[in-house]
Amino acid sequence: MDVPCFLSARFEGSFAYLTVKDRLPQILTKVIDTVHREKHKFLEEYGEDGIEAEKKALAHFSKLRNEMQTDKPLIVITDDLPDTHIWNEYLKYQQSLLGDGELPSWFQSPWLYVECYLYRRIHEGMALSPPISGYDVFKEAKNDSFFQSQNAILALCTHLQELKKGIADISETAQREAFSKLLQVSLWGNKCDLSISGGQDNAQKFSILNSLESLKSNILVDDTEFVWLLLSQKKGSSRRIDIVLDNAGFELVTDFVLADLLLSLQLATEVHLHAKCIPWYVSDTTKQDIDWTIKQLLGSNNRWMSKCGETWKENLQKGYWVYHENLFWTLPHEFCSMARTSPDLYAELQKCDLILFKGDLNYRKLTGDRKWDFTVPFSQALTTFHPAPLCSLRTLKSDVQVGLKPGGGELLTAAEADWMISGKYGVIQFSPLI
Ligand code: F6P
Ligand code: MG
Repeated sequence: MDVPCFLSARFEGSFAYLTVKDRLPQILTKVIDTVHREKHKFLEEYGEDGIEAEKKALAHFSKLRNEMQTDKPLIVITDDLPDTHIWNEYLKYQQSLLGDGELPSWFQSPWLYVECYLYRRIHEGMALSPPISGYDVFKEAKNDSFFQSQNAILALCTHLQELKKGIADISETAQREAFSKLLQVSLWGNKCDLSISGGQDNAQKFSILNSLESLKSNILVDDTEFVWLLLSQKKGSSRRIDIVLDNAGFELVTDFVLADLLLSLQLATEVHLHAKCIPWYVSDTTKQDIDWTIKQLLGSNNRWMSKCGETWKENLQKGYWVYHENLFWTLPHEFCSMARTSPDLYAELQKCDLILFKGDLNYRKLTGDRKWDFTVPFSQALTTFHPAPLCSLRTLKSDVQVGLKPGGGELLTAAEADWMISGKYGVIQFSPLI
């Protein structure tokens, strides 16, 4: 099968181009400001060593920003972490694809690669700056975003707890309704990522529950019916659903709420949660974020929020929810390479009955971040990635979209030039096991 070319900043004027030119330097500048602001904390905690480390990290980030803005060749990663050699092999591989004398660079290489590489280089900057290496440069922004979404979180936790009170007696139709509603909440939760906003406030300020009806026309592909059919068969029997998480803050709470409902409706007996091992794309969820979020809820003085915190902590302790981490999620690879490059993870995903992939970056990696025609079927764009039935819950924030009806993409382009990047539209897009 012929596959189209990768999105890249070499296409001037494209969103990839604008991202590498403007948005990524802006994110890096925010990182520099954050680390600089924490100087006193580093001094308090580590004395002069903390200050030296802060200077070292800042020098690394400034150099990195300069390399990116002047389109320098990508260079090897010099820390000594479990994935360092994989990144350096990948650089060699990218180089092997080019003509003699050409080197991979920020504006010429695939966007997916260079953008992932930026976050890995940020991590390198911290890794090479002990004793502050363990500091998450995006933590503050993620935590603020959680606090700014308080009202929406409160409304959602209340909705879940009210729903669960009568859940044993509700009809099949009401169960379907409840499931569909919280699937949509989890979809729209994906609007709140801090990468698209350049690290600026992008929280959910009001309850999303009342807006679901009016947002329905913004769901360009809605395969809820297929997902429901799959899950409502053999209800109550042992079933594993995996969620490949995206952003912390409001989105993570929506994912927890959905995971809770899946157990409560006996659509799943186990929910496995996959998070990132390192700070990633500003707001992506790490283990620290999961623990921090549950702790915030537990400490809340609203009874529904603290009830959610208690249940979710217990779900993790009792193994109803299982936490996973894998280096693969923070590599630049398309998912169609997973079976070859990360066979253990692929085998793990083959054990589940459904995988929910949250967010835009996962969609880009599912489809290889290529210039597909809008009408190419989703299953085809996944190329060889078919570990289990899967569904993407994603708001559109990059120039890739497949599985639309003929003419659908063109109509949207004519009406709204930025429909693929504004986060206004979303998909609930399913692919069966083939
Ligand atoms: O830089 C933009 C981007 O790569 C877009 O693909 C998307 O807006 C964002 O980063 C990540 O989005 P998400 O958190 O939904 O994966
Ligand atoms: Mg994200």
